[in-house]
Amino acid sequence: METNTYKILDGKAISDQIKKEIAEEVAAMVAAGKKRPHLAAVLVGHDGGSETYVASKVKACEQVGFKSSLLRFESDVTEKELLDCVEKLNNDEDVDGFIVQLPLPKHIDEQKVIEAVDPAKDVDGFHPINVGRMSIGLPCFVSATPQGIVELLKRYEIPTQGKHCVVLGRSNIVGKPISLLLLQKGYPGDCTVTVCHSRTPNIKEICLQADIIIAALGSPEFVKADMVKKGAVIVDVGTTRVPDASRKSGFRLTGDVKFDEVAPLCSYITPVPGGVGPMTIVSLMLNTLQAGKK
Ligand code: GUN
Repeated sequence: METNTYKILDGKAISDQIKKEIAEEVAAMVAAGKKRPHLAAVLVGHDGGSETYVASKVKACEQVGFKSSLLRFESDVTEKELLDCVEKLNNDEDVDGFIVQLPLPKHIDEQKVIEAVDPAKDVDGFHPINVGRMSIGLPCFVSATPQGIVELLKRYEIPTQGKHCVVLGRSNIVGKPISLLLLQKGYPGDCTVTVCHSRTPNIKEICLQADIIIAALGSPEFVKADMVKKGAVIVDVGTTRVPDASRKSGFRLTGDVKFDEVAPLCSYITPVPGGVGPMTIVSLMLNTLQAGKK
């Protein structure tokens, strides 16, 4: 197989750099007598993934100097109790922004909860007002994962103008918003975007035409070497917990890309973990900073 020397899109290093930049800005705000930004997180139940993500978000708040609050509910919480909590956070003047960690238990209407959040405090960028504004390029809260991907491409000065970007997955959280962001005028954008999903019959042929692949299917090691054009840029959003008895945790995080065979073909590729994950967390911090400045 013909190979290339590839570069790692190091989300961990870039996110550490951005956290430093945020911490400096927060220190200056506080020194000037302004309020310390405050992020609240609502966590329902004890799903392992959600527990880990929320713990990372709380830790990142500490690192950048934000105040954080964690509000926990058992998985039998009623929809009414959760909506009351959202209402309280909407009206709490000390809270600049908040998130309700997804997924929620089946008996709760997730969309109803998302729509109950005040768009001005919706640092997840999930409210239809923010999604709509993002889709036409107006100022808004952009959801953290797509924003993190765009920031990573920007920091590595990856050319995007006129490039064919293939997005794998059409979720509201990643696939749809990243396809719209990369379609927008300007940098990083101006891409020709193709969105593939579970009903796309010829994914391999489409991927082979891609200059940039954003893999966000949640299907471990879906993208193989025979789907990737030489010199492509690969962004792996997958973080599936695959059982691994050799790990203390009992699992390992596995991306949507078969890294070992795909990396030698690429110009740039994100690792899992240490790629998109840390960029997602730091994007939430950027949104909270933005909310805190209002
Ligand atoms: N579940 C998976 N990703 C996210 C996210 O970015 N925000 C929230 N609130 N829940 C999630």
